[in-house]
Amino acid sequence: MQTVRNRKTGKRGTKKLEVVQTVAALRARVHEWRMKGESVGLIPTMGALHDGHLALVKAALQNCDHAVATIFVNPTQFAPSEDFEAYPRDEADDIAKLDGLSTDLAFIPDVDEMYADGFSTSVSVSGLTDGLCGASRPHFFGGVATVVTKLLLQALPDRAYFGEKDYQQLQVVRRMARDLDIPVSIVGVPTVRETDGLAMSSRNWYLSPDERAVAPTFYKVLRDIAEEVGAGARCKSAIETGQATLADAGFSPIDYVAVCDADNLKPLDRVDRPARVLAAAHLGRTRLIDNVAAG
Ligand code: PAJ
Repeated sequence: MQTVRNRKTGKRGTKKLEVVQTVAALRARVHEWRMKGESVGLIPTMGALHDGHLALVKAALQNCDHAVATIFVNPTQFAPSEDFEAYPRDEADDIAKLDGLSTDLAFIPDVDEMYADGFSTSVSVSGLTDGLCGASRPHFFGGVATVVTKLLLQALPDRAYFGEKDYQQLQVVRRMARDLDIPVSIVGVPTVRETDGLAMSSRNWYLSPDERAVAPTFYKVLRDIAEEVGAGARCKSAIETGQATLADAGFSPIDYVAVCDADNLKPLDRVDRPARVLAAAHLGRTRLIDNVAAG
């Protein structure tokens, strides 16, 4: 619990995090706020919260009267061979971190609350999901688009906050909300990094000390590519150099290294418009993804 200043009145008061497990309880609380004309920001997460997630919560608290974080390790975005069971979970720590920031509400449903018996609907965003992570994890964006659609419809927030760290996911969510006329504004928040440049991620917990020492190379390679293509080099040659550096450092397999149009994520030959350098690669058992702006 923290003493906080009300955004509108400037008055100080205390705010304690409320934790709910059901859609009905989430809806009731948000409805109450909206009836008073107060705005709501939603922060969907899978928990194991770190400073990257907390930056989204802070952004929501800055721009909305209430911040609602959701914690749900969504089974439908993991393939059977992936790390759903092993995915880090620490609910008590997550709750303490959210409470420390004066988050208003945490929605922590169980799988049955989100996927009732006989659940048979899915949301798919075509085109944007064909390449990059969509190519290496074909099940992934269907699971993400479906669960984010559900969370947006359950909470009906004014704004929803997503990290640029997962840039393709951010673009997919923007497109989905636009195409389905979901009345929410999707806000992108810059990537939060460790001091050596590694993008914060719940999956960084999997890195051994040796792998952790190598991991910042990933960001450095992306920055080097961004610099080269920004200065006019052909994307293909910059990507090849980057892939070789990653392979030398021990990244294997490399799922992709790409330079894409920042909006539609189509691969570029040369950077002649706002672009993004994006990559995914495995280091031991950890799959790292990251991206930077170019051009
Ligand atoms: P998760 O990986 O827990 O991430 C939740 C949100 O935090 C996402 O919007 C992600 O982009 C953002 N985030 C993670 N690391 C970040 C960092 N270092 N800097 C800034 N933002 C960061 O992404 C998901 O969960 C799920 O796919 C979800 C959208 C919740 C749907 O299940």
